[in-house]
Amino acid sequence: MTRKVRKRRQSLEQCIARFNMKIVNDANELHAMAKAWKAQGKTIGFTPTMGALHKGHISLVAPSLKENDISIVSIFVNPTQFNESSDLEKYPRTLDEDAALCEAAGVDIIFAPGVNDVYPEGADYSVDLPLGNMATVLEGEHRPGHFEGVIQVVKRLLEICIPDHLYMGQKDFQQFSIIQRMIDYFEMPVTLRVCPIKRAYNGLALSSRNQRLSKEGKLLGSIIYSTLCYVKENFEEKSIAEWREWAMLELTNDWSTPEYFEFSDGQTLETVHDTSKHDYIVASTAVWIDEVRLIDNMTIKQEFSN
Ligand code: PAJ
Repeated sequence: MTRKVRKRRQSLEQCIARFNMKIVNDANELHAMAKAWKAQGKTIGFTPTMGALHKGHISLVAPSLKENDISIVSIFVNPTQFNESSDLEKYPRTLDEDAALCEAAGVDIIFAPGVNDVYPEGADYSVDLPLGNMATVLEGEHRPGHFEGVIQVVKRLLEICIPDHLYMGQKDFQQFSIIQRMIDYFEMPVTLRVCPIKRAYNGLALSSRNQRLSKEGKLLGSIIYSTLCYVKENFEEKSIAEWREWAMLELTNDWSTPEYFEFSDGQTLETVHDTSKHDYIVASTAVWIDEVRLIDNMTIKQEFSN
């Protein structure tokens, strides 16, 4: 067999192996598997999701496949992060479609636990993490208790999957900032990789909620991205207070209502008043279109390299 043929065969075998995806429901089983991989010196990449997967979720998988021997995606609609029980019940559950997308992307393991696997009865998985205002500003102000639930589930999932790398989206800027704080605080042996926001052709950030937008809503939703881009490009021209007022007006139309447009320190999430005091500033917003609440953000200033 020539070297070229051998190489091609090897890559085909790797490809077939990649498509041999396994769905695991049991937390103990997955933890035992993860421990065995670690003992063999294999690296694990982990992408937590709540399912109803779209290209935004799948974009987190590509770097995981590249950087790790094993890539795990979890699909778990976490009850502790929902404020309204009706939202929890209505959350789309599409495991078959999700599994097909993950398999095509090359994911090795889907972890799809039940509530009892993640939170066994009698065990206390509350997390004591001092966050200051991090969990009560921006999204936290509108969704009390939400980030406590996110911290709880991500910590528990990390303990089960013991990954080397954790993949999360820039789309949920406050969420990944809080998770980074948790990793630092508990000195967890995992590195967070933040992946860019995947957008539709017109700039609308991909989200499972976009399914609920009308055709017009999907088109008009591009105003969120264009507003963020305009602010970024012309940032030096106005003060923070002026930009906030400008953006709120820009996003107020017959068909769109902004809930907030805020500038935050990218590390502490503290509200920015004086731009010269912050190296890293992120503008974030929540806007209602067609009775759907859409969130988006953009890094406006980042004068250091991560
Ligand atoms: P979920 O909303 O399913 O999102 C899972 C991951 O996909 C998050 O890290 C999110 O930021 C990322 N994501 C969503 N839309 C994206 C887009 N358009 N571009 C890039 N990444 C995108 O966030 C959660 O689930 C949950 O809170 C979870 C972390 C799983 C805890 O339950």
